[in-house]
Amino acid sequence: MSDRLHPRPAAATDPAISRRKLLEFFSASPILASGAVGALATLLESGASGALAQSYDVLRQAPVMNGDLIAAPAQALNVFDFEMVAKKELPPAHYGYLASGVDGDETLKANRDGFEHIRIRARRLIDVRKIDTSVKIFGETWASPIALAPVSSQGAFHPDAELAVARAARVKGHPMILSTVGSSAIEDVIKERGAPVWFMLYPTDDWAVTEALVKRAEKAGAPAIVLTVDRQGGRNTETLFRERRTDTRTCTDCHTPGFKNEVSRKPMFDGIDVDRVTNLYGTGMTWDYVRRLRGIVKGKLVLKGIVTKEDAKTALDHGVDALIVSNHGGRAEESLQSTIGVLPEVVAAVNGRVPVLIDGGFRRGTDVLKALALGATAVCVGRPYVWGLAAFGQPGVEAVLNILQREFETIMRQAGATKIAEITAASVDRA
Ligand SMILES: Cc1cc2nc3c(=O)[nH]c(=O)nc-3n(C[C@H](O)[C@H](O)[C@H](O)COP(=O)(O)O)c2cc1C
Repeated sequence: MSDRLHPRPAAATDPAISRRKLLEFFSASPILASGAVGALATLLESGASGALAQSYDVLRQAPVMNGDLIAAPAQALNVFDFEMVAKKELPPAHYGYLASGVDGDETLKANRDGFEHIRIRARRLIDVRKIDTSVKIFGETWASPIALAPVSSQGAFHPDAELAVARAARVKGHPMILSTVGSSAIEDVIKERGAPVWFMLYPTDDWAVTEALVKRAEKAGAPAIVLTVDRQGGRNTETLFRERRTDTRTCTDCHTPGFKNEVSRKPMFDGIDVDRVTNLYGTGMTWDYVRRLRGIVKGKLVLKGIVTKEDAKTALDHGVDALIVSNHGGRAEESLQSTIGVLPEVVAAVNGRVPVLIDGGFRRGTDVLKALALGATAVCVGRPYVWGLAAFGQPGVEAVLNILQREFETIMRQAGATKIAEITAASVDRA
């Protein structure tokens, strides 16, 4: 981590301290009378979500920038501001791993482009001062429909890894999914999150290992096991390979090659005998595997990576409790299909029987509204929170989530929706 951005003094990232500094600045200013400073203090303390039009008040933005990159989370105008800082902070191979899609990254781009074909229909003269963004999933109320997608190996992005993410998710109650190949153990993540997290499962080709992983996650309190089904075919991550060529470090100093070494570094495999395992991704998994898994999962079983109506229907026939429409953020197949584009066919096939979540390219509050209007129950974000993590640790993740939530609340109001149920097919039209 570079000295320019790190160490990160608490003063630079704590919003309360930023507000105080701003007030000190204005108190000393001849342009504002003392009464105005008092009014400003009230405004700044009122917080974003209750503030309506003030949520984008220029005075809320930290006024100073040093150079092209933001130097503190409070300076970010949108989630993209974190990406370039993450790029600067990370070794090229780690940034390449995060950024990469597959082949020419066309599906990665398609995920973003898909949102441009959907327009939002603004509604007027509705009292939207108070809005409620909560959603109910599996009988549990989430404060926000914006959840954190499972992202592997977060120690590659920040030393505090998933623990920093869990602490950030806790602040405003964002749900979180932990990867099998995360850098942190589920017990620690749940402790930091202050609530159960879902566990994302990569099945190995040794059933005993799969069983042990599920048992451990459920014992820790995970209410849902998320089986990722889109990594069975292998992949060509060219952007990663290209970036890695420019990395002068010796990768094998930290990563011993070979599958067994890879998993044995991951805390979720601690105490599990992985001797018979030869693969984590291409395991020849079929629907029989889903049936077998259904038999051992006590809580909810979720499939992540479904992108067709056929597979959605088959999943329901196998007793699956929810789907996540996903192409792994353009990191699985180079299909050129955006997830927002295939969402309607999956939603139609499911026909309200189970929740349908979605991820892939969500970068704006408007993207979230579009997905909910097309029938998604909630959305997950991947890379944006990792940009925040890599750039500034926990405060960076918090800022990314706050920006997405603030943007989402703003567009909800503009679409005339005071609660999630009021975001409907009539909230959008398709170009
Ligand atoms: C660096 C990285 C690692 C990922 N690791 C996993 C993983 O371990 N398991 C999984 O199901 N998905 C994984 N994903 C995919 C995400 O869960 C999610 O589907 C994707 O990031 C969403 O797209 P977005 O990054 O455009 O938001 C990973 C994504 C990235 C960028």
